[in-house]
Amino acid sequence: MNSPVRAYTEWDLLEEVIVGIIDDAMVPEWHVSLAATMPTAQHAFYKREGGKPFPADQVAKARAELEGLVKLLEAEGVKVRRPDRQPFAKPIATPHFTQPAGLYAAMPRDVLLVVGEEIIESPMAWRSRYFEPLAYRRLLKEYFHGGATWTAAPKPELSDALYDRDWQDPGDDGEFRSVITEYEPTFDAADFFRCGRDIFGQRSNVTNAFGIEWLRRHLGSEYRLHVVDVADSHPMHIDASLLPLAPGKLLVNRERVPVIPKQFKGWDVFTTPEPAIPLSHPLYMTSRWINMNVLSLDEKRVVVEAGDEPMIRALKSWGFTPLPCPFRWFNSFGGSFHCATADVRRRGELKSYCA
Ligand code: ARG
Repeated sequence: MNSPVRAYTEWDLLEEVIVGIIDDAMVPEWHVSLAATMPTAQHAFYKREGGKPFPADQVAKARAELEGLVKLLEAEGVKVRRPDRQPFAKPIATPHFTQPAGLYAAMPRDVLLVVGEEIIESPMAWRSRYFEPLAYRRLLKEYFHGGATWTAAPKPELSDALYDRDWQDPGDDGEFRSVITEYEPTFDAADFFRCGRDIFGQRSNVTNAFGIEWLRRHLGSEYRLHVVDVADSHPMHIDASLLPLAPGKLLVNRERVPVIPKQFKGWDVFTTPEPAIPLSHPLYMTSRWINMNVLSLDEKRVVVEAGDEPMIRALKSWGFTPLPCPFRWFNSFGGSFHCATADVRRRGELKSYCA
């Protein structure tokens, strides 16, 4: 059978992709796991709005931008799929925790990890995201019937034992101290990226060493899983720190990656320009480094935020073809083009690109 799921890199020709939806987006309830990852300036917002919907006007603007992204991708020849709406406004209860609501299905990159012909549902550490993979089940079932390998990592308990109650903010320049323990394996797919046989990942406030080890053993000897040391005191998702754009071309946030991992020896290293997003623009869930969260459609074409002149100029100067797309209101919800998508199929074979 010819699997409909197949991706070995972040840059091979993109044939099919899942684009998230912003409908029904809910503000997660305040918790120490949010204190460790969400921008300090937004903590008051979570304490006040947790369990309520995100502002409807901003959701509507982000939705329009998502539709724009879908049109752009289709015009470039990519098959676009969307998750199903879920009742995120409904409370969640398990034997171990309760939540006033879910989150959203806006960021498929966080949830679904495609490695080769396998699609893995991540064991996510946020309680509000416990049922998020269900938004993708219609697609996952279809891909399975088409010949893909479909896996869900062990469902975590997310009891209090997973969270470090004594966690204290290390500050922006401090040492990373994870808010999650090693009680059980957890990871978000967006803490990893693919470079053929080499998979890179980071420990974060949602991905623990246990989760990384689970993935390493699960992927087996065909892949080498490297843990990157990222200088981020509030890490959650690696794709605003480093991201390969093409073979031998690595986009790097120099504030967070002062030392390039040795596996990228011989690669061109491109420094992410300073973010251009206005300081006044609401960013509930991310830093301004979301400017580097671009999406490669192949080794040349890169989807980039339409108002981000410095990034557009930089991409051109590095020999890429930028495809500008307005996405600032979507950015407010915690991600850009890389987060908002999950590669289902990219043409290409399993190869080695790294030293
Ligand atoms: N934590 C990153 C930052 O604040 C944003 C990463 C977003 N990525 C994602 N896949 N949702 O810079």
